Amino acid sequence: MKDRRDGASRESDVSIGAPRRLGIVGAGPVGTALAVAAARAGWPVTAFATRDTGRRAAFESLVPGALAVASPAEVAAHADVTFITVPDDEIAAVAAQIHADQDQVLAHTSGLLGSDVLRAVGSGHSGHSGQSGHSGHSGHSDGPALGAFHPLVSFTADVERSVAAMRGATAAIEGDDSAVDVLAALAVAIGAVPLRLPRGAKPIYHAAAVLASGGLIALLDAIATLGAAAGMSEAESLAVYGRLVEQTMANARATGIAPALTGPITRGDAGTLESHLAALRAVAPDVVEIYLAAARRELEITRERGALSPDQVSRVGDVLAKDRRPGTIYR
Ligand SMILES: NC(=O)c1ccc[n+]([C@@H]2O[C@H](COP(=O)([O-])OP(=O)(O)OC[C@H]3O[C@@H](n4cnc5c(N)ncnc54)[C@H](OP(=O)(O)O)[C@@H]3O)[C@@H](O)[C@H]2O)c1
Repeated sequence: MKDRRDGASRESDVSIGAPRRLGIVGAGPVGTALAVAAARAGWPVTAFATRDTGRRAAFESLVPGALAVASPAEVAAHADVTFITVPDDEIAAVAAQIHADQDQVLAHTSGLLGSDVLRAVGSGHSGHSGQSGHSGHSGHSDGPALGAFHPLVSFTADVERSVAAMRGATAAIEGDDSAVDVLAALAVAIGAVPLRLPRGAKPIYHAAAVLASGGLIALLDAIATLGAAAGMSEAESLAVYGRLVEQTMANARATGIAPALTGPITRGDAGTLESHLAALRAVAPDVVEIYLAAARRELEITRERGALSPDQVSRVGDVLAKDRRPGTIYR
C-alpha cells in the first residue's frame, strides 16, 4: 500500500498478498463477521478465544477449523495476525496478555483508537523497525507490527448481513507499515476498500463517521418533526424529504460540497430565515438549535463563495445571531 505522508490514502490497487493465519480474541459481532469474511476469502482463521460457551459453539460452526483456545496469548501463538475484537476500553488490557514477535501483526478494530493502544503488548513493543513517518513508529523492536483496522460498517448479531456489509465498505487502517500492508491486503481480500489514515487521525476520522451516521439520523429526526407539524407521517416525510436528501447528495458528489449548497442563505434572503425561525419557535422549538447550527455553517460556505455582498452576509448573520440564547456559546 502506498505511503502518502500528506494525509489519508484510499487505495483500490493494493496487491492481494499471501493469506496469513488469523487469530481472533473476542467472538462478538465484529470478531465473528471478520473471521467469517476472512475464512471465505481464503485467509485461514486458525484460533479464537471467547469467554462464552454459546459464542464458542456459534463461532466453531461458522468458521470450521478454527481452534478454540483459552487465552489471548494462545491465539497469538497460533496466528500470524491477531485481531483483538473486544470493547475499546478492554483492548489495552487484552494486548498486555499477548506475547508476539516481530514477524507477527497485532491489530484491533476500534474506530476511535489508533494502533498505539496496543503498545501494552506483552513482548515490550517499543516501535517496529522500518516504519515511515506516516505511521510515526521508528526504532528497532522485537515486538509485533501494530495496526488498527476499522471496517466502516454497522455490525449486528446478524453475521451474514455484517459480512455482506463489509463488501465495498471502507476499512480504515493505521499503524506500522508492515501491519498496514497486511491489513490492506486482508481488506481487499474480503472486498473492502482500504483507507490508510495518518497517525493520530483516528478520533477525527471517527467523529466524522459519527456525524455521517448519527448526525444524519438527528437531522432526519428534526426533519420528520417538522414534517409531522405540517401533517405528514414519518414515512411521508422520508419519502418527501428523503428524495431531496438523495438529490443533494448526488449534487455534492457531482460538483463538490460547497457548490451543491442552495436555498435562502445562498440568496441572502434574511426575511425567509426570520419566517422560518418564528415558525419553529412557535411549533417546534426543539428544532431551532439544529436549524441554527446548520444555517451558520451554510452562511460560512456562502461567505467563502463570495457571491453575496458583505451587507447581505451580515444581515443573514444578524438574524441567526438573534436566536442566541443567553448563556449559549456560539463560535
Ligand atoms: N459493532 C460495530 O458496529 C463496530 C463497528 C466497527 C468497529 N467496532 C469495534 O470493534 C470492536 C468490537 O466490537 P463489537 O461490537 O464486536 O464489541 P462487543 O460486542 O461489545 O464485544 C465483543 C466481544 O468482546 C468480548 N469482551 C467483552 N467484554 C470484555 C472484557 N471485559 N474483556 C475481554 N473481552 C471482552 C466478548 O467476547 P467473548 O465473550 O467472546 O470473550 C464480546 O463478545 C470494538 O473495538 C468496536 O469499537 C464495532
